[in-house]
Amino acid sequence: MRLTVIGSGYVGLVTGVLFADTGNDVVGLDADPAKVAALQRGECVIFEPGLSQILTSNMAAGRLRFTTDKAEAIRHGEVIFIAVGTPPNPDGSPDLRALHSVADDIAEHLDSPRIVVIKSTVPVGTGDDLQRRFDAKARFPIRVVNNPEFLKEGSAVADCQKPDRVVIGAADSEAAAVIAELHEPFIRNQRPVYVMSRGAAEMTKYAANAALASRISFINQVANVCDALGIDVNEVRRGIGSDSRIGFQFLYPGAGYGGSCFPKDVQGLIHVARRAGVQHDLLESVHQVNVRQRELVFHKITARFGANLAGKTFAVWGIAFKPNTDDIREAPAVILIDKLLQAGAAVRAHDPEALGNLRQQFGDRVSCHQTAYDALDGADALAIMTEWNQFRSPDFDVMRQRMRSPVIFDGRNLYALDTMHKRGFEYHGIGRSTTSPQK
Ligand SMILES: NC(=O)c1ccc[n+]([C@@H]2O[C@H](COP(=O)([O-])OP(=O)(O)OC[C@H]3O[C@@H](n4cnc5c(N)ncnc54)[C@H](O)[C@@H]3O)[C@@H](O)[C@H]2O)c1
Repeated sequence: MRLTVIGSGYVGLVTGVLFADTGNDVVGLDADPAKVAALQRGECVIFEPGLSQILTSNMAAGRLRFTTDKAEAIRHGEVIFIAVGTPPNPDGSPDLRALHSVADDIAEHLDSPRIVVIKSTVPVGTGDDLQRRFDAKARFPIRVVNNPEFLKEGSAVADCQKPDRVVIGAADSEAAAVIAELHEPFIRNQRPVYVMSRGAAEMTKYAANAALASRISFINQVANVCDALGIDVNEVRRGIGSDSRIGFQFLYPGAGYGGSCFPKDVQGLIHVARRAGVQHDLLESVHQVNVRQRELVFHKITARFGANLAGKTFAVWGIAFKPNTDDIREAPAVILIDKLLQAGAAVRAHDPEALGNLRQQFGDRVSCHQTAYDALDGADALAIMTEWNQFRSPDFDVMRQRMRSPVIFDGRNLYALDTMHKRGFEYHGIGRSTTSPQK
């Protein structure tokens, strides 16, 4: 089938590449000429494990190309996916300007009937609004479908190739059947396809992210109580996670959630609730707990070193908001670095994939290092903010030698308390009592 995917970011690029990989003829349209030029050269513009190879092989096979030409792209696809960003406005509501601008482009350039699929995460009612917009403006019939994306950055390829479920929100069963058929190659392992109303699909996406964010804020709050009581939250986590009704996923205490989705979608659902006249106290708390949690490592640092950090140097391991991505949007590490710089400290950073994005944001205010150990030279302390695998078993002797003082603030609870104690580190985790080095 001929498909157009508008927006070649984390979602649009993965979607387009994987639909091309199952034999469709895909055109990716993006408004950013530099991004499109890089994609045309076969450069994968984001770091996502496994994506680059599938991108280049499908481009070479002639099934995938990228353009900034709206008319060409919009006329190409029998089905047009919209995957542009919906970032938060200052009041927490999603900014739908890119989506509306794309809708206007589609209405203007269309030359025959189409199915338009909203993949972007949007508030309840957006699909119905878009349908009304098209009905009023477009010269040919357009059927709007909502098909929320549940991929996780860092495992997006695998998530899209084997989704837990496919959700299709449509007012038209024929259009829903076309979208279900497109997903057929990905659900051969009997994964369900749920066809529902557009509003229910929109709400499903928000509710899924809100549920996961709530679990993270819940365990973070439990961790903070454990911290105050001198209990190790990891023991508690094991105790509750083994309950089959609870489980372990998204129950890791840490420095808070970031990324372009959870913070935005929790606020988006609060906004949807408010507009519907419903107070969403639970999600407001989930959000507030996370705002505080993302500042926790900084507060632990100032409690240890004082409010004025001038003359101090801090190493930061892990900048991306989670492992296996280069995405630093709303990352707890970015919030920490900003606060350290404001307090007068010097920052030496390492991340396996996100240093380019860090440099773009902070310029030379942060010194970036290609290896984790180089970032440690002369550091008064290390803050670990992302649980990249390579941070799990480092050479602690080398670390101690390169740091000015052996102090670790571990925002991801990577190490066992008693071993850090024996290795001679002062170790501050999340929800675990602090350990001092063994004399
Ligand atoms: N990133 C994720 O993990 C994830 C997961 C599920 C859902 N989502 C949702 O998917 C949507 C996209 O997220 P993303 O992370 O891929 O965003 P992104 O910022 O990485 O990509 C958006 C792309 O759209 C392009 N764009 C913006 N306006 C355009 C226009 N008028 N015409 C053409 N292109 C335009 C931008 O240049 C950019 O390349 C958001 O609504 C997000 O909430 C994201």
